[in-house]
Amino acid sequence: MIGFRANILYFKQDPYFLEVQEDGLFYYKEGMLIVDQQSGLVVQSGQYSELIEEYPDIVIDEQFKDQLIMPGFIDCHTHYPQTEMICTFSTDLFTWLNTYTFPTEEQFKDLSYARKISQFYLNELLKNGTTTALVMATIHPESVQALFEEAIKLNMRVITGKTLMDRNAPDFLCDTPESAFSDSLNLIEKYHNKGRCLYSITPRFSPTSTKEQLQAAGKLKLKYSDVYMHTHLSESIEQVEFAQSLYPENQSDIQIFEQSNLVDKKSVFAHCVMCPKSESDQLSKLQCGVAFCPTSNLCYGAGIFPYHEYVQKNVNFGIGSDVGGTTDFSLLKTLQDAYKVVMISQKDTKNRKPMTSLEGFYRATLGGSKALHLEDKLGKFEPGYEADFVVLDWFTNDIQKLRYETIEKRSGKALKHMENSKANSQSDKSLLAQRLFGIMMMGDQNSIKATYISGKQCYLRKN
Ligand code: GUN
Ligand code: ZN
Repeated sequence: MIGFRANILYFKQDPYFLEVQEDGLFYYKEGMLIVDQQSGLVVQSGQYSELIEEYPDIVIDEQFKDQLIMPGFIDCHTHYPQTEMICTFSTDLFTWLNTYTFPTEEQFKDLSYARKISQFYLNELLKNGTTTALVMATIHPESVQALFEEAIKLNMRVITGKTLMDRNAPDFLCDTPESAFSDSLNLIEKYHNKGRCLYSITPRFSPTSTKEQLQAAGKLKLKYSDVYMHTHLSESIEQVEFAQSLYPENQSDIQIFEQSNLVDKKSVFAHCVMCPKSESDQLSKLQCGVAFCPTSNLCYGAGIFPYHEYVQKNVNFGIGSDVGGTTDFSLLKTLQDAYKVVMISQKDTKNRKPMTSLEGFYRATLGGSKALHLEDKLGKFEPGYEADFVVLDWFTNDIQKLRYETIEKRSGKALKHMENSKANSQSDKSLLAQRLFGIMMMGDQNSIKATYISGKQCYLRKN
């Protein structure tokens, strides 16, 4: 057992609806996170002064005493084969797919190439504090094998699956309903629940699958009810119109998947920026996972995620980077775009509600684990939870430092007249959201000091 002494933060619920948002979280400024490195699980977290009495003989790691530890970030939608083509210039999604994406994905028929990129990709996740990801691979079983095998080496929780495409893609990237079924079945048997790996049946999006293929995928989902289904949904006007032309009998994109028994709470849909009301109602009713991918949506001019509407109607969503349709692996940078998207989506400035830092970090941690229905395992520092966590610096450059010190100074002055201990706890609480806002809005890969998977350090920034 080991105790990490630090500023400890985790969420217990969505702060959005709380009058005092801080009531939705636990924050221990002088805290400790106790981890059992044998099992990779959390033993307990809390106030250092209390835990040290309960565990007087515990080995303590003090190297992060003044830094912030929170549960690792959860990326609810990303593509590892697109790592090398991140941030490619394009007018729109379909041009981007045909020009860059499909030729890049062809390379993943080669297992050794897939291994090389898998290693690089997982290392980038760790550098960015991302400890869990729902990942699209390519149509090649080798691409899935490579990613799972590298994840197993790290004991990392990764969800992926072979992409299914049998039309509207180049021949070299097409499978068939039969091979989609049998290749996916073999991979499920081999990797689902192996170590921390989980499988997702992955039709890329409705335009690249025939009805026959979706039905084959639906049969598989019936056979293995606890595997995921992962796809893109209502990402852009062009995509919605294309899907409609291919499936004229369906009212909405989600109905296409429903017709094939592919929709339940373990279905995760990326984007969902163009959903008609009936579709978002269905997402909410079934508690499907949704990935809010603001950077990607902005890069492709795809659309604006209706953040407030979805929170208020209880759509179950987390944050997705959508690597490589984005500019960065960092979920901090993704949150920066989320914040701006939420601002621009509200025209009525008098009643505007920005996305607070507490809402942002909730979505990147516990909100993500809920979207993936892993909230009994990930996203909290409670006994028995998996010990995936990230160590963050409060500031990493001069301007961030100046901002941080100014906030401390101002709050010190404001609270000078109050009794000391009361002042401390009040100032801790009211400062937390402001301090976190600095990390959320100005942070990036440099904010990540270290990343732990199953209680073991897998990344430490050098300087
Ligand atoms: N729709 C179908 N394929 C893709 C993809 O690779 N990226 C994004 N953003 N949307 C898609
Ligand atoms: Zn995507």
